[in-house]
Amino acid sequence: MTDSYGEPISRRRFVHLAAVGATALAGGSLAVLSSCDNSSTGPSDGDPTRTPLLMPGTLAATGASLIAAPGTATISRTESSAAWLFEGRLPGPTIRARQGEQARIRLQNGLPEPTIVHWHGVLVPASMDGHPRQAIGPGASYDYEFPVVQRAGTFWYHPHPHHLTAAQIHRGLAGFFIIGDAEEDALGLPAGEREILLLLQDREGDAAGAFDYSPDAADLVSGMLRDTPFGNGLRRPTLQVSGRRYRFRILNASHARIYRLGLSNGGALTVIGNDGGLLPSPVQVDSVFLGVGERADVLIDLAPYPAGSRLMLKSLPFTVEFSPAARYPQGLEMDLLELVRTEATGPGDSPLPAVLSGVPALVNGGAPDRHFVFQSTGAGNMHLINGLTFDMDRVDEQIPLGQVERWVFSNESTLPHPVHLHGTHFQVESRTGGRNLVYPYEAGWKDTVLLMPLETVAVLLRFDQPGIFLLHCHNLQHEDMGMMLNVEVV
Ligand code: C2O
Ligand code: CU
Ligand code: CU
Repeated sequence: MTDSYGEPISRRRFVHLAAVGATALAGGSLAVLSSCDNSSTGPSDGDPTRTPLLMPGTLAATGASLIAAPGTATISRTESSAAWLFEGRLPGPTIRARQGEQARIRLQNGLPEPTIVHWHGVLVPASMDGHPRQAIGPGASYDYEFPVVQRAGTFWYHPHPHHLTAAQIHRGLAGFFIIGDAEEDALGLPAGEREILLLLQDREGDAAGAFDYSPDAADLVSGMLRDTPFGNGLRRPTLQVSGRRYRFRILNASHARIYRLGLSNGGALTVIGNDGGLLPSPVQVDSVFLGVGERADVLIDLAPYPAGSRLMLKSLPFTVEFSPAARYPQGLEMDLLELVRTEATGPGDSPLPAVLSGVPALVNGGAPDRHFVFQSTGAGNMHLINGLTFDMDRVDEQIPLGQVERWVFSNESTLPHPVHLHGTHFQVESRTGGRNLVYPYEAGWKDTVLLMPLETVAVLLRFDQPGIFLLHCHNLQHEDMGMMLNVEVV
C-alpha cells in the first residue's frame, strides 16, 4: 500500500496495540539523538538560541474572568512583540474544569473591535457557544454559564467574530480548556510537571513580523502558511525533561498549517487521546497528522534516553497532492519542540492500561445521509460549502435532536480543509480518496477532521442539544471568508 504523502504505508505502522507497556517503548530502536548536538554549552543546557517552554497559568472554570486586550507577548529570551492576549499571555490561562461542575466565565472585551469567545470542543448550550452573532463590542462583557457535561479531554478557546477570527487568533488570543473526570484519574496519567500543554502555530520568524497580521492574496487562497514554528507563543522552544513518561497535549492553533508530528529519531508516539478525549485504547504510531483545530494527547517515555541526550518533536515532511506551489508549502519539515534529558530520574512508570475509555459506537438508524461539499473556486467568495458562503442569519440545515445521522464531507478542491463542527462530537467512519484510511488516532470522539484534497470523509453524529451551531472549515482564512454554515438542531 502506498499513499500520496511521501512514503509507503505498511500495515505495521498503523497497528493498534492491545497493550502498550513501559517496555514497549524501551526497545533498542530508540537510539540517542545526535543531530542537534551542535551547541557548545554542554549537553543539558540545550541550544541557547532556543527559549524554555513555559506553561500557561490556570483558572478554575467555576469562576473565571478573561480579559482580551492589547499587550506584549514574549517570543524569545530577548524579544517581544505587541500582541492581543487573554490575561496578558499566550496561551491565555488554562481553564480547568471537572465533569459535573458548573462553569462561570466572564469575558471582557478590551479590544478595539468586536469579539466573542468560543469553547472549541466543549459541549455547551447554543447561547454559550460563542456564535459570531453573539459578538460583543469594545468595553462590553459576556457572562458564560454552562454545566460541564462531557468526559475528560483537551479543548481550547479562541475568538469567533465573523471576518475577524484569523486576525484575533494570530495576534495571540487562544488558550486551553481542560476537562478532567474520575475515569481519567484512575489511569494515573502523567501530571504536574510531566503534563505538557503545547499550542502550535507557524509565524514569521522575526519579532517585527511574528504577530503582524497582513495576509497577501496567496494567503487568502491556501490560508496563511509561514516557516517558523512557535510553541506556546515562543519561537524555537526547548524543554528539560526527566527520565519518565510525559503527557503532551498538543493543539494545532495555526491558520492553515498541518503538522505531521513525529520524533527526530523515528521513535514511537503513544497516542491516548484526540479532540473528544481518550481513545478506547492507546495506539502506537510513528507520526500523527494534526490539522488546524485538532488535538493530540500523546505519551512519550523518556526513560530510555541517557541524561544529556536530546530529542526533537518535529513536523515530519509530507507532500499534499495537487496543492499549489507556495512560499512555505504544507509538509515543510519543522522542529517544533526540543526535549533535553536532564540527570534527574524518578521511579519507573507503571505500564499503561490497555483500555483507556469506553466509547460506545453510534449506530446509524437509517436517516438519509447529509452531504457537504467543500470547494475553493479561486474567484470572489472562493471558499464555499455546498456552493454557499456564510450568512449569519440564514439556517442552512435543520437537524432533528437526538437522531443519529451520517454526514459526508467531500473535498472537491486542491486545498486541505480541516472540517469542524460545533455543538457535538462525531465518530469518523471512513475516508476515501487521498490517504484512503482512517488513522487509529482518529478513533473515539472528534470535533475536527482533516480532509486532504479530493478526500471524502463520512462521520456519524448525534446532537443532544437544540439551537444553532456552526459547521466550518478551520483554516482561518477560509473560515473568515465564509466557508461556514449554520446548522439548527430542532
Ligand atoms: Cu475552533 Cu468554530 O471553532
Ligand atoms: Cu468549535
Ligand atoms: Cu478550508
